[in-house]
Amino acid sequence: MQKKLAGEKAAELVQDGMIVGLGTGSTVHFTTLALARRVREGLDIVGIPTSRATEKLAVTNGIKLSTLDEHPIIDITIDGADEISPKLDLIKGLGGALLREKVVAAVSKRLIIVADESKYVKVLGSRSPVPVEVLPFALSTVMRQLGDMCNEANLRTRDGMAYVTDNGNNIIDCRFGPIHRPSELESRINSIPGVAENGLFLGMAERAILGTADGIRVVEKPT
Ligand code: 5RP
Repeated sequence: MQKKLAGEKAAELVQDGMIVGLGTGSTVHFTTLALARRVREGLDIVGIPTSRATEKLAVTNGIKLSTLDEHPIIDITIDGADEISPKLDLIKGLGGALLREKVVAAVSKRLIIVADESKYVKVLGSRSPVPVEVLPFALSTVMRQLGDMCNEANLRTRDGMAYVTDNGNNIIDCRFGPIHRPSELESRINSIPGVAENGLFLGMAERAILGTADGIRVVEKPT
């Protein structure tokens, strides 16, 4: 219910003629369905999906889609998150779409995050691991180096096999505990050859719309 509240509220920010980044996950699922309802009522938008799952959901529900080649600048992206700090730094990627999500977020004029309030934490790393997308060729070497950096590095699996992203890569979930210097950590992760992307989204989000037991809470990026 909290996810639905937040997801649907964010859909109200979308206006006619916009290029809209469509995030991935169970919260933004409600945004996509709300946008589809508005499209049926006449809203004219073009969506850029961040995953095959979102692409399928959008197409099935009648949202027109395109690519970054056609639309390299996005007016607004609405996406979920696994952790949100008071500065609106994020951990994303438990849904496995972090690489495309970061590419889309980076070219978006506005990044709006939707979540239930349990995702709002004082310090990143409090509950969630940081997902790291890795080239399969480099999996064991990256695993060893990440293992030296964090408390626990686990290869993500599905049905007993290594999880494969939409980009054909694997994911290592790294538990760091509280992350006090996220940009330093991001640079260290990115300096490992074979890392395709990491789930720290720093300084990118403008606003978080949180569903709470009492309704909606909006957190703006501090100026
Ligand atoms: C996918 C993500 C999701 O946005 C994140 O996992 C939140 O998902 P949910 O809304 O289902 O809790 O980063 O890669």
